[in-house]
This record gives sequence, structure tokens and C-alpha cells, in this order.
Amino acid sequence: MNVTSPPGSMSLASALADAAAEIEQALDMLLPLVEGDEARLFDAMRYSALGGGKRMRGFLVLEGAKQFNVSRTAALRVAAAIEMIHAYSLVHDDLPAMDDDDLRRGKPTNHIAFDEATAVLAGDALHCHAFTVLADGETHPDPAVRIELVRAISRAAGPRGMCGGQMLDMLAEQGGVPLEEAAIGRLQTLKTGKLIEVSAEAGAILGKAPLQQRHALLSYGRDLGAAFQIADDVLDATASADETGKATGKDAGAGKATLVGLLGLDRARMQAERLVAQARTHLDPFGERADMLRALADFTITRRS
Ligand code: IPE
Ligand code: IPE
Ligand code: MG
Ligand code: MG
Ligand code: MG
Repeated sequence: MNVTSPPGSMSLASALADAAAEIEQALDMLLPLVEGDEARLFDAMRYSALGGGKRMRGFLVLEGAKQFNVSRTAALRVAAAIEMIHAYSLVHDDLPAMDDDDLRRGKPTNHIAFDEATAVLAGDALHCHAFTVLADGETHPDPAVRIELVRAISRAAGPRGMCGGQMLDMLAEQGGVPLEEAAIGRLQTLKTGKLIEVSAEAGAILGKAPLQQRHALLSYGRDLGAAFQIADDVLDATASADETGKATGKDAGAGKATLVGLLGLDRARMQAERLVAQARTHLDPFGERADMLRALADFTITRRS
């Protein structure tokens, strides 16, 4: 992994790998293997939620939670819930009715490995199960905290968040009329930015942080999310399927609305760099404790997968 490390501390690569292993364990526990007639649904859920992905959203939850001494168990449950929602969004994004992709995280997409109806249901079930986990007393003893998590995360995933952005993405692709820069920015804020934003914010909700600090993390997540999707679009144009574990070189031909398409690679990259620099400034109130979040911001645009 191409990552830079904060001086004198654990490298980002090993911190990400450790977090990914812990999140994997939490997901494994929260998505048990079952027997009987529903086994196929649980198998399809586990197929897409386990065994892959950078776990960047989960890592954001864990690092955000560290700023406020939140218990690891609580942070891991929220990290796993957000990764379930992210996995659901990928299962549906890959369906023939959307991006029609056969490869995800280096293996066949859910609807190829199972079938379309199962993939739709596995996505739906991962989405619901995430909220079962968030609302459970084990996630936080204070019901007001749990309600706030459910409110913020459901909003980020819903019509004014990821689903809304996916709708704009589909409309832009079908409309055939190139979007302007501001419209692409809005589309990307919704489809990718909002879930990344709430991942960064979640630790502050769990830690009952003062509003100013919660807002600082949210603002970091907003800029990071915008940079993240530009980097994804740059990778579509410049990386191989071996590197990313998914098909690349598809966005331009599909008529996707991206900054790479509108501004070209160099200017899109510059925009992502500017956003990363801006993301880092929001971490100033947290001092050294936020060094991993700073390193993660850099990694967002230097990654090759
Ligand atoms: C891919 O997200 C989908 C986008 C929002 C661009 P990631 O690049 O975080 O995918 P995984 O979880 O690492 O597979
Ligand atoms: C997907 O964006 C964003 C989601 C909400 C799933 P993309 O369609 O660009 O993501 P990839 O490239 O398939 O991972
Ligand atoms: Mg898509
Ligand atoms: Mg896609
Ligand atoms: Mg993409």
C-alpha cells in the first residue's frame, strides 16, 4: 500500500490493516452463519460484507472515536454498521440496472455469485441490519446517543445522501448532457461524501463531544469525501482492475459525470489535493492525536486501490 506515516508513530498502513482486521471480526460476529431457509440470504450478506475493502469508513469511525476516549467495543459496532451500509451500496451499485459490474473487491459481484434478486435482498438486509446494530443497547448505554447515530447515519445514506447522489449519477448518465462543475460537486457530495462525513463525525456523537469539535470532524470528513470520489474517478481512468479489484476505464464510455471528464486528469488531481489540504486544516484543534486522520487524508489521493 502506498501510504505515508506520521513521524514517530505506527504507520498508516499497519494502523489500517489492524483496524480492518478488528472490523472484520466485528462484522463476522454481527453477521452469523445461519442454517435453514434464510441461509442463502445470510451467505449473500456475508459474501459482500466480509473479506475485503479498505475499511476506510470504519477506520474513520475508530480514529474519530479515539479523539474522545470512546470504548473500542462501541466504536467497532458503529464502524461495522457503517461498513454494512457501504457494502450494501456497492452491491446495488454493481447491479445491471446501475453500473452493471462483474468484479468487486477482486471477486465476482454479488449478483454474479448469487443472482439479481438475492443481491437486491442482501443489500436491503445489510442496510436494515446496520440499524439493528446501531439501535441496540450494546452500542451505547444512552438512548439519546443511539437515536442521534441513527438519525445522522440514516440521513447520510438516504434521499439527501447516498441514495440521492446515486439517483443524480444515474440521471446524469442517462441524460447525455454534461453537468457543470458545481452540479458534479453536489452529486459527489451526496453519493460518496455524506457517508464519509458521518463516518468521521460518528466518534464525536459516541463521545458526546462539544459541538465545535463534532463540527470540525464533520468538516474534515466533508473535504475528505469530496477528495475521495475524485480519486476514485482518477483511478477509473488510470489504474488497472488488478490494482483496484474492480473494472476500470468504464466511466468515460458510460457517460459518467466526473471532474476527470469535465476538467481532465491534471486539474481533477489538483482539486483533490486542494481538498485534502483543506481537510487537514479542520484537524488543527485535535493536535497529535489526529495524526492518523491526517495521514489518511493524504492516502485518500495517493492510493492505487
Ligand atoms: C468505492 O469505495 C465506492 C465509492 C464510493 C467510490 P471504496 O474505494 O472505499 O471501496 P472499498 O470498501 O475499499 O472496496
Ligand atoms: C459509487 O460510485 C458510489 C456508491 C455510493 C456506491 P462508483 O460507482 O464510482 O463506485 P465504484 O467505482 O463502482 O466503486
Ligand atoms: Mg456508480
Ligand atoms: Mg460503480
Ligand atoms: Mg468509480
